[in-house]
Amino acid sequence: MELVFATANQNKAKEIQTLIPPFIKIKSLNDINCLEDIPETQTTIEGNASQKAFYVFEKYKVNCFADDTGLEVEALNGRPGVLSARYAGEMKDANANMDKILLELKGVENRKARFKTVISLVIDGEEHLFEGIVDGEILTEKRGKDGFGYDPLFMPNGYNKSFAEMDLSEKNKISHRARATYKLLEYLKQIKPA
Ligand code: IMP
Repeated sequence: MELVFATANQNKAKEIQTLIPPFIKIKSLNDINCLEDIPETQTTIEGNASQKAFYVFEKYKVNCFADDTGLEVEALNGRPGVLSARYAGEMKDANANMDKILLELKGVENRKARFKTVISLVIDGEEHLFEGIVDGEILTEKRGKDGFGYDPLFMPNGYNKSFAEMDLSEKNKISHRARATYKLLEYLKQIKPA
């Protein structure tokens, strides 16, 4: 069985292949010659994951999955959420995005936030959703050099360091993306070869 990972990132597709049964062959968008930008115009993280997976399923007639992630800050009514990548503008600047959040939370006591990843898997037109969440808080200043996106501002519950102060293997044990991916893999492992 072939399964397309609807991500432009070739490495992500290769990485996941090492984790699932070999009779499921993971392909990237490049492999199926899908080189266009896939629309992401929905108002929720679930909606965007779904939109991407169904776009590829319907246009290329292949089983596939897509993921979408956002940071949800409680005191900002869940923002930036689906807008996470471009919160401070179309240039998708991580530092500008973090500065905007710091400004909006200036003097705000409630710092609760969570990262959420949703994976939409579409097999023969039927959708399965897998969600991964990590709860934490927004720091009052950036801390750490590793990671990407909002990592320097996010401290997961139960830890005394930001995601950007963790090495990748530590972050991968608890991250939203790891949790959603684990659920996807558990599901894929119980599919029987045709
Ligand atoms: P995507 O859906 O994986 O492209 O993520 C959308 C945006 O969410 C990214 O551009 C980042 O700003 C943010 N983001 C996603 N995952 C992480 C993470 O693990 N750490 C920090 N920021 C993240």
